[in-house]
Amino acid sequence: EKLKMIRNFSIIAHIDHGKSTLADRILEYTGALSEREMTDQYLDKMELEKERGITIKLQSVRLKYKAKDGQEYILNLIDTPGHVDFSYEVSRSLQACEGALLVVDAAQGVEAQTLANVYLALESDLEIIPVINKIDLPSAEPERVKQEIEDVIGLDASEAVLASAKAGIGIEEILEQVVEKVPAPSGDPDAPLRALIFDSYYDSYKGVIVYMRVVEGTVKKGMKIKMMSTGKTFEVTEVGAFTPHPVLMDELSVGEVGFIVAGIKNVKDTRVGDTITDANNPATEPLPGYRKITPMVYCGMYPVDSSEYDDLREALEKLELNDASLTYEPETSSALGFGFRCGFLGLLHMEIIQERIEREFGIQLITTAPSVVYKVYQTDGSVLDIENPTLMPPPQKIDHVEEPYVRASIMVPNDYVGTVMELCQSKRGQYVDMKYIDTNRVNLIYELPLAEIVYDFFDQLKSGTKGYASLDYELIGYKPSNLVKMDILLNGEVVDALSFIVHRDRAYHRGRALVEKLKKLIPRQMFEVPVQAAIGNKIIARETIKAIRKNVLAKCYGGDVSRKRKLLEKQKEGKKRMKSIGSVDVPQEAFMAVLQVD
Ligand code: GTP
Repeated sequence: EKLKMIRNFSIIAHIDHGKSTLADRILEYTGALSEREMTDQYLDKMELEKERGITIKLQSVRLKYKAKDGQEYILNLIDTPGHVDFSYEVSRSLQACEGALLVVDAAQGVEAQTLANVYLALESDLEIIPVINKIDLPSAEPERVKQEIEDVIGLDASEAVLASAKAGIGIEEILEQVVEKVPAPSGDPDAPLRALIFDSYYDSYKGVIVYMRVVEGTVKKGMKIKMMSTGKTFEVTEVGAFTPHPVLMDELSVGEVGFIVAGIKNVKDTRVGDTITDANNPATEPLPGYRKITPMVYCGMYPVDSSEYDDLREALEKLELNDASLTYEPETSSALGFGFRCGFLGLLHMEIIQERIEREFGIQLITTAPSVVYKVYQTDGSVLDIENPTLMPPPQKIDHVEEPYVRASIMVPNDYVGTVMELCQSKRGQYVDMKYIDTNRVNLIYELPLAEIVYDFFDQLKSGTKGYASLDYELIGYKPSNLVKMDILLNGEVVDALSFIVHRDRAYHRGRALVEKLKKLIPRQMFEVPVQAAIGNKIIARETIKAIRKNVLAKCYGGDVSRKRKLLEKQKEGKKRMKSIGSVDVPQEAFMAVLQVD
């Protein structure tokens, strides 16, 4: 019967090991895409994704594959995002599968996210099929990588497929192994409906399109459904699957993967990991593993031109329609005016949203440095969640402060172990463990404050190891830390948007470095501007921006008009990204400067 012919699987890999290329090859091999459509990586949808070469949104495709046994199978390939910011989404889409292709680059070997993804797949009891990709590369060492998969991950790699997604080698064998090794789905078709949401996106014509996997029962057109975490009900108007083109169907039953449309206006009503049930015959228990995702990183976003405040709100409203993990609320800064405090899953998520606001909505932004959420235990016994350093209560009201910590796994060649340990130490990391992956590489485990990772940890790690280190981390909870709020004063006035929270031991050093950096970043004004760093009332560092002396146009030696215009335009361009604070023009970079000092 039908169930036996279904295989639901994902591809998991470290970034750049070839997941998207392999997915495209599989689509091509099964005839899902025409030649013309193959020109671009089909599973990566948004323009931004293409540019950055990363996958942000999960999707699924339903493919037909005629196997060597002569039977035609239905393969549902579920795509997963490749970045640590989105690991909850990865875990939910893996939950919708019975198997996973583990793609490992034949030249790079097992990396931090290979391991992290394997753990997620094992949590969902998936059958894992190792695929060693890029065997066409001269530097490929498939035998060594096989050994690594066995030693480091503990998987049997004797039947690992040797493949090249680029050259189209090994694709048939991969599909054969999927059919043979990945178990067919099972479940009770007569039970009340339970379907797992693993993604959704907003379509301006149809409303929210929900990607889901039916675990029990059947979902049909016309059915009244209920979201189990919120109790909200909707009527199903369309049921279907992507092949990758959308194809409408009458129903999706046990084991099937596809989409529904149900007049849903906001993706926040279709939370990833939630269970869809039949409103008239509801299941008693939701599927396990649902978690309401909360933002890890916050920053303030302000329009450079304050008249664009409403446009910014509209942009955030639109983005929110399609991004359930983005949060925002209005905030006011005495320095920057009216803006929003926005919450993100991580730094990459934050950068993506900023870029989309600027690019798709044409709004120039000033963003403040990202901050994590601190827990402030006050002397009166109450606890505050502080996501904006400005809102930190005065020291006399604070009993103690806790900050979020992560457990980081860093894979690195032996030669760089010292460098990485030094870096972790300098970021207040606590050493946990070190394991040898093979004779050349080790896996270092550290516990680090999330705030330090949010700063430029990753960039420093990459540059310190010539790009060889790979990093993965997970949140492990809150720990007490000796933290203080540092204020920055321009012209004697505190600039609230520049305040940040820092460990007391590093406060002096960071304050000093920041005022030096600000001195360089803030252009000279017509008057002298003191830049100071202070903890409470105590000034700990000071620099002075000297007054401007010459008119910029003086450099042009009068004559050349076009040159003069160019210079003026260039100045105007530069001005766009400035915010006048008091009477001082402060450029965007100044608000991010705290991230780069150390
Ligand atoms: P993310 O989407 O960022 O997670 O990356 P990915 O794992 O999907 O990797 P992607 O498919 O984008 O491939 C990364 C790079 O490796 C691209 O430049 C590909 O062209 C290249 N690549 C993928 N497969 C092969 C292969 O078999 N051989 C060679 N030589 N290059 C490959």
